[in-house]
Amino acid sequence: MTTSSSHITARKLLSGGRLIGEVRVPGDKSISHRALLFGAISEGKTAIDGLLPAEDPISTAECLRAMGVEISPIKKSEKVIVHGVGLEGLKEPENVLHCGNSGTSMRLILGLLVGCKNKHFVLTGDNSLSNRPMLRVSKPLKLMGAEVNGRSNGNYAPLAVQGKKLRGAIIGTPVASAQVKSALLLAALSAEGSTTVIEPAHSRDHSERMLKAFGANLEIGGEMGRHITVKPGSVLKGQNIVVPGDISSASFWLIAGALIPGSKIRIENVGLNPTRTGILEVLKQMEACIEIVNKRNITGEPVGDINVIYKNQLKPFTVNEEIIPRLIDEIPILSVAGCFCDGISRITGASELRVKETDRLAVMTRQLKLMGANIEEHQDGLTIQGSQTLYGANLDSETDHRVAMSLAIASLLAQGDSTLRGSEAASVSYPDFWSHLAKLRS
Ligand code: S3P
Repeated sequence: MTTSSSHITARKLLSGGRLIGEVRVPGDKSISHRALLFGAISEGKTAIDGLLPAEDPISTAECLRAMGVEISPIKKSEKVIVHGVGLEGLKEPENVLHCGNSGTSMRLILGLLVGCKNKHFVLTGDNSLSNRPMLRVSKPLKLMGAEVNGRSNGNYAPLAVQGKKLRGAIIGTPVASAQVKSALLLAALSAEGSTTVIEPAHSRDHSERMLKAFGANLEIGGEMGRHITVKPGSVLKGQNIVVPGDISSASFWLIAGALIPGSKIRIENVGLNPTRTGILEVLKQMEACIEIVNKRNITGEPVGDINVIYKNQLKPFTVNEEIIPRLIDEIPILSVAGCFCDGISRITGASELRVKETDRLAVMTRQLKLMGANIEEHQDGLTIQGSQTLYGANLDSETDHRVAMSLAIASLLAQGDSTLRGSEAASVSYPDFWSHLAKLRS
C-alpha cells in the first residue's frame, strides 16, 4: 500500500461477539491476475466472471492497459472483458509500469516482457514491493537470454527490461514459488525451443491449469509431476473464465468460526485447488468442526462451500516445510489460531514469510506480543503457546493486508477492545472484509 502515515486512521475493533451467517469471499487473487494476463496475450476476447475487484489485480490491469490492452472497468459483480492482443501485441509503454503492492503483478509481468523483442519497459512498485527480491525471477530468466537490470544487481525494483529473443532452457528454481514458476512459463511462450521448469516442491498450479485451457502447449511430467515443459509455437485463444472464491480470504472466517465461541459460518464458493488447501489440513489437525459441501468444478478449478462451527479446546498444530507452499499466505492467521489452541503450536520451514508484503514472522510476533501473546520468533518460523488470554491493544497492520485481517480476528478473541492502524490495507486482497465482518457479527 502506498499510504503515507498521515492518512492512516486507526479503526476501532470491538472484542467479543460470535460470527454467524453466510459469506461469499471475493475472487481468488492468483487466478484473477492470471486471467487478466493470459487474456491479454491471447487472440480474441476473454470474459472473466468473479474477478477480484481489489488493488492487486487492478495493478495488473493498469500495467496491461498501459501496454495497449483494452480491459473493461473492474467493478464488483461485473464481468470483465479483456481484448487480447496476442503474444507479440504488447506495446512499449510510454511510462513506468506501476505494480503497486503486488508481487504477483511484478513477477509475472516481468516474465511476460522479457521476450518482447526490441521493446523497453520499466517496472516499479510501492515501498514494500521495491524491497522484495526479484533476482529469484530475473536470474533464471537470464538463463533464457533475458536482459533485466535493477538496484542491487537486479534484485530490487525499479527494474529495467530490454526485450530480447529468448531461448528455451531447463531451469531448476531454488524456491517453490508460483510467482517464479509462472514468470518462467510466460517467458517460455515466446522462446525458441522448449523450456522445462523444475521446482523443489509443488507451488500453486493455477498457471499450468489456465495456460492449458487457453491452448498453450504445456506438459507436466517427471518425478511427482514436478517438470513443467512449455513447447514453442502455442497460440493462446481467449476464454470464458469463472474465478472461484479465494481460500486465502476464506481462511480468516475458517479460523474465526472455529475459535470464536458460538460461531457458525458458511463460506460459499471457495476454491479448493489441492495446491492451496493446506489450511484445511491444519484445521483437521486442530480437530476443528469443518464440513465441505456442494463440491464442483468451475473452469478447471475445484470449488465447494465450507461450513465451520465453533468447537471448544482445539488441538495445537505443527506446520513444516512440506506443507508451507500449500498455505503460504495463511501463516498470519494461523499465528493467531495458535494462541487459542490447547497446547504449543509450531511453524517451521517458513522463512519465505520474511519476503512477503512485510516480514510476516516479525510483524505478527510484534503485534501479537502487544496483545500479551506468548509467541516466539525463529529464523524460519514461530512457536506459539496456546490457551492464552489476549488483551485489546493499539495494533498496526504495518501496511500488510493479511496482517490487518488476522489482527481483526485476534481482537475479536481478546479481552477488551483494540484499535488497528492501517486497516485499509485489507483492500489489497479483500475490499469487503470489514463489511463482511460487520455482517457476520450482527
Ligand atoms: C502467488 C504466489 C505466492 C503467494 C502470493 C500469490 C501467486 O507467492 O504468496 O500471495 O499468485 O502466484 P510465492 O509463489 O512467491 O510463494
